[in-house]
Amino acid sequence: MRRTPVSFSLPQRILHWVMALLILFNLLFADGMEHWAGLFFRGEPVPADVVASANIHAYVGITVLVLALLRLALRLIQGVPPEPEAEPPFFRMVAKVSHWTFYLLFIGMPLAGMAGYYLGSGLAAEIHGGVLKVLMWILIVGHIGAVAVHQLYWKTNIIKRMTTG
Ligand code: HEM
Ligand code: HEM
Repeated sequence: MRRTPVSFSLPQRILHWVMALLILFNLLFADGMEHWAGLFFRGEPVPADVVASANIHAYVGITVLVLALLRLALRLIQGVPPEPEAEPPFFRMVAKVSHWTFYLLFIGMPLAGMAGYYLGSGLAAEIHGGVLKVLMWILIVGHIGAVAVHQLYWKTNIIKRMTTG
């Protein structure tokens, strides 16, 4: 039987931080892609420089998708450390549910974006830039808040498991 790990493995830690940067990049700098969508869905011609900057958004997002699949495979093969015993069961459950919701978004958000960009689906683009974007922001803000509570209130030092290991 697989032993329960006490920390995230080095590849899991690298994936966490690289993916966090890529996701924040796409969340904060989506202007090129928004410009593309504004023109494309009105049936107007899209200049080459707008396509180039939309492509950066697309490639960064597709990288998130590929890394998410790799991370999911590592999670299933290597496992992850359990939520600290010291914490109330309800909050351990909230952590589990929100981590899995993150994974759904890591996969669902790029797929919806690709359906908008490559297949021209206005509905998929709207879902991608609307409800999925908002959900991703809520999870990220909640996640950072939760890490702070773990660290400062329960003093379970979970940051160590995702940094030095
Ligand atoms: C876009 C930003 C971020 C995303 C999408 C994200 C996502 C995740 C996910 C899905 C997990 C679950 C573990 C896994 O399956 O690998 C996790 C764990 C963790 N994250 Fe983040 N994260 C982000 C930013 C941050 C930041 C800024 C911090 C530091 C304040 C942080 C600290 C941690 C820690 C300490 C854990 C380990 C939790 C545990 O031990 O169970 N994350 N993160
Ligand atoms: C996890 C990865 C991704 C994140 C975090 C992300 C984030 C965003 C954000 C914040 C917007 C602006 C929405 C707004 O405020 O109106 C946007 C728009 C868009 N993204 Fe992404 N994106 C990702 C991946 C992708 C991929 C892989 C593609 C396509 C290959 C894509 C295609 C689009 C399109 C077509 C729009 C325009 C939507 C519209 O305004 O109708 N995205 N994305």
